[in-house]
Amino acid sequence: MTRSLSGYTLRLRRFDPESGKGPYWQEFKVELEGHRSVLDAILKLRDEVDGSIGIRCSCRQAICGSCGVRINDKPGLACHTHLERAAQAASEGSRVIQVEPMGNMPVIKDLIVDMDAVHWKKIRRVTPWLINKQPVPEREYIVSHESMVDVTQSMGCIQCGACVSDCLSMEVDPEFIGPAQLAKAYRFVGDPRDARQYERLKDLAEDPHGIYDCTHCWMCIDACPKDVAPMSQIMRLRRLAGSEHQIEDRNNGHRHEHAFTENIARNGLLHEADLLSDSYGGKLSPRAVPVLLGSLPVILRALMRRKITLGHALLHPYRRRYKDLRQLFESIERRERRYELNLYVSGYDGAEPAQAAGNGPAMVATGTSGVGAGQAPREEGEDI
Ligand code: SF4
Ligand code: SF4
Ligand code: FES
Repeated sequence: MTRSLSGYTLRLRRFDPESGKGPYWQEFKVELEGHRSVLDAILKLRDEVDGSIGIRCSCRQAICGSCGVRINDKPGLACHTHLERAAQAASEGSRVIQVEPMGNMPVIKDLIVDMDAVHWKKIRRVTPWLINKQPVPEREYIVSHESMVDVTQSMGCIQCGACVSDCLSMEVDPEFIGPAQLAKAYRFVGDPRDARQYERLKDLAEDPHGIYDCTHCWMCIDACPKDVAPMSQIMRLRRLAGSEHQIEDRNNGHRHEHAFTENIARNGLLHEADLLSDSYGGKLSPRAVPVLLGSLPVILRALMRRKITLGHALLHPYRRRYKDLRQLFESIERRERRYELNLYVSGYDGAEPAQAAGNGPAMVATGTSGVGAGQAPREEGEDI
């Protein structure tokens, strides 16, 4: 089938540290079919127009993770983004495709970032290997199918760095361990052969830049080309640390989460004025007093600027309106057991392998049926 060539304008962010100049934008015209990738266009330009364009790539098939860039302000794989789709996402009718290096990592040259300085350094931080239980069995370890399904989603990571690029927490706190890194941590925490589940969780909960440093912004879920959903893996780590192992971290992360749900259960709608004291055991708790005293200047400023009134600070303005929500909490609490499945894989028992949601791998898993990544956990007895 012959396809007609289309003209696109590629706007590349250029930077050469040896030139002594700062970064700048450079536009190139390229004639290529719309189904070809942004990477194809950049390589064509490099071969035919300007051999100095820097881009990292290898497989050209969305497998190796080396061509991560930002395309029209969104992170992604250059080899996995069609020109016509990128042009559609550009401002209306412009057909200008803007490509720049990923964020949150230093730029080495043009579109190449220093993955070692941030991404790989932080991956090493989470001890990314199995520490096997003893004694080692004579033959292989027997692991249940469900256990491996549970870690399959985090195993799908190709280490492209797209989630790191757009992580809002990392932008504010460069020491934050990071989405891909915490997803990698779950890969071993969730593996029943690993001997250090508690120690790993304790370490990640106690680290001020660890699991409680994530702000649930969803950027990593949107960014990931492999549906790894790093934020969901972080939430799993939190649930295991807080609910299963009762780890009360020194960052107050677990108590804060607990206080948040209690606050909503009590008020129907979050009463922010109580949240701080709730997180430290209530207004009269000895632990809460110094924290409340420390935040007095902020409270006074908010009162003076009329951001809150004394009445709203002391009493929830809409508490009565939402009192029925309590029933919802009670009905959830009445259920005796709750268990969570990783719903990344899709398919039916005995069926031919089915395509998983998005770009994830296709496989069939016992006990999961026709559900995609990011769906809510199910409860025992519920049809899935
Ligand atoms: S959800 Fe958490 S880990 Fe993911 S991008 Fe946002 S802050 Fe980062
Ligand atoms: S979690 Fe997704 S976006 Fe992040 S490095 Fe892995 S594959 Fe890339
Ligand atoms: S070149 Fe390998 S993922 Fe794009």
